[in-house]
Formats: sequence, C-alpha cells, structure tokens
Amino acid sequence: MPDYEKEYRGAIAETLRCREDEVFFYWKGRVALYGLLRAMGIGPGDEVVIQGYTCVVVANAVLYLGATPVYADIDPSTYNFDLVSLRGKISSRTKVIICQNTYGLSSHLEEIEAIAAEASARFGRRVFTIEDCTHGFGGSYHGKPNGTFCDASFFSTQWSKPYTTGVGGFCVVHDPELREKLTLVNRGLAAPGLKEKAELKMMYFIRQYIVNDFTYWPMIRLYRWLSRKNLVVGSSSGGEVSGIEMPEGFFKAQSAVQFKKGLKGLAKLPEVNALRKRNAAVYTAFLREHGKTFVSPELFDDHIFIKYPLLVRDREKFREDAERAKITLGEWFEAPVYPAYAPLEVWKVEARELPCAMRICGQVVNLPTEEKHPEKVVRFLESHLEFIL
Ligand SMILES: Cc1ncc(COP(=O)(O)O)c(C=O)c1O
Repeated sequence: MPDYEKEYRGAIAETLRCREDEVFFYWKGRVALYGLLRAMGIGPGDEVVIQGYTCVVVANAVLYLGATPVYADIDPSTYNFDLVSLRGKISSRTKVIICQNTYGLSSHLEEIEAIAAEASARFGRRVFTIEDCTHGFGGSYHGKPNGTFCDASFFSTQWSKPYTTGVGGFCVVHDPELREKLTLVNRGLAAPGLKEKAELKMMYFIRQYIVNDFTYWPMIRLYRWLSRKNLVVGSSSGGEVSGIEMPEGFFKAQSAVQFKKGLKGLAKLPEVNALRKRNAAVYTAFLREHGKTFVSPELFDDHIFIKYPLLVRDREKFREDAERAKITLGEWFEAPVYPAYAPLEVWKVEARELPCAMRICGQVVNLPTEEKHPEKVVRFLESHLEFIL
C-alpha cells in the first residue's frame, strides 16, 4: 500500500523548497491557521492584523481564540495590504500580521517583514508574520516560492483553490521552536469521521460525473444551500458565515482520501497555472487597450492568477448577463470578511477605516482563469464595456 501522506508531503516540500517535517496537514486551510495562531500563543487581549478584504474564516480563526482581528485597508493595485494603513494598525497588542496573496498575487513581503521586525524591536517581543497563501500555491515572489517568506504560511486545497482535495489545507513552519509548539497543539486534532470521509468521496463523484456546463449553476446553488444548512461538507458551515462560534469538531486532521487527491492535483498544477497566467495576460491586454482597470504585470513577477479581478458598475446585471453567456464569475471578495451573513460589527470590522476595500467590495467580480476559451470571455467583455470601470 503506497504511503500517500509521505508522497504528498514530499511533493509539497519539493515545490516549496522546504523540509518535509516543516509541513503539517489539516482538514481545511482555516484549521491550519487556527493551529498556527495557537502555537504562537495567541489569546484574549492580543491583536492580529489582517486585511479588510478576506475570507470570513480568517477573522474567525482569530476570534475563536478570544483575540481581536484588526483590519488594515488594501492597496487598489495589489488587492493586498496598503502599507500605510498596515503601519497605522500596529499597536502594543499586535502579535501577528497575516499577509494574504489575494488571487495568487503576493506583494511587499520584504516591507511587511521589516514592519514586523520594527514592531518586535519596539515592543521587546516577537511579532510574528503568517503568509495566507491559500490563493498562491505554485507561484513565486522575488524568486522564492509563495509561502516561504514569513515565519509560517498556510494553504488551502478547497474546491476553488490552486489545486483541490475537496476540502483540505496545510501549513509550513520554518522556525524549529514554533514547530515544536505546533506539534504539541496538534495532539488535540480529531480524526475525520466516517461520515465526513464518505461525504467527501460523494462530492468527488458529483464533481467528476454530474457537474457539467448545463448543471453547473443549479448544482452550485444547491451546494451552497445544503452547506449553509450543514447538510454537506461545504467549504463553510452555516455557523461560520453567520457568527463567531467555533463549530464542533473544527480542529480536525486531514484524511488519506485527501492525500491521494492532493498528489493528483499537484501533478497537474504546473499546466493549470500556466493556463491561468496565459488567460490573465489576455485579460490584462484587453483591459489595458480599452483604458479599464487591469492588474499591472509590473507589480507581480510570477503569480498564478487563481482568479482575475474586474471592477464593474451595476454588478447584478453584469452577473446575470455573464451567467446567460455561460461565463462563471467569482465573488472574491464582495465583503471585507466574505461571505458574512451577519452585520460586519460581529467580526469587529470598522468599514469607515477601509475606504478602498469597501469600494472594491462593491465593484469586484472575478474572471475565470482556467477557461479553455478566453476569447469567449473577451467577447463578453467587449459587449459590456460600459459596465467595466
Ligand atoms: C484568503 C483566504 N484565506 C483562507 C481561506 C480558508 O481556506 P479553507 O477554505 O481551506 O479553510 C480562504 C478560503 O476561501 C481564503 O479565500
């Protein structure tokens, strides 16, 4: 019987140019983040700085520990931290800065490391950095693989991520002391139950054999409804998007089913990433030519464009038309903590301190980058130029 976990760990370590014992597996990416924060000793009274343009589960991992997420605004050209806003959010309570590589685009990591180092010197204790690399596996920043800059990084292998194991995640920790602490924390991990493993296999089956161009939208709607009702293994359960209580059985390990899937996904990743980058270049050229907002290639040397952000007016109509044209638009991130189904105060978001993020949340859609026929998307954009900002 092949040892899938060992093989998978080896393949990840090779991509990230790290040691195998630096990789730790979890049921989901958010669980990896939660484990890391616990290993860093985060608790009540501590602050963790994150960007106000993220997934709600990032804020939840902080809140589950009784700590406070503090949101910095984003830079409109990178969709990541605005450095001035980030500096303004550092306080004597800051323990961690989480740098996200939104859509696979890392930015200013050296500067953020320097901000953390300055804060560590000022407060006489360590301010950690974590790379939220859930969008960026397989790309690189200034010649180093994404996910290898900060003290630690975490990754997601959920459906919509660079490669998928259905749900899944892992983290990478370079610091030996932190690794030891995480190993102790991981003693509390629960094993995935039979029901969860069976549901995951069922989801693989549905994805492979039942979801096609005709069934995609009805299936997506059904899947979202079922996961909100906690009736399937969704990426987020109902409680996670409507409140800040940690769901039962949250701190869970990864299963053998996922290791096997992960190996397959990794093998195909270079080809998929090459397609994503090619498509992103097509969109960029089109938007640049028409004087619209585009992602500037000069800012990003080798990034995977898991999605391509597009800013539009009258988003509802634009979406409806895209759905009719069979173009699948993504929703990252239509809220500072997406997809929050309760008032933002629940997650301690101060919207007025996030002017750029709030504007973009109201305008953004994501173009698909795994498209075999990008010309279809470009034709659609051409016919909707008046919507595009
Ligand atoms: C920016 C960001 N961070 C973290 C996560 C969490 O990953 P997972 O779904 O594997 O818990 C997501 C998920 O979509 C995300 O978009």
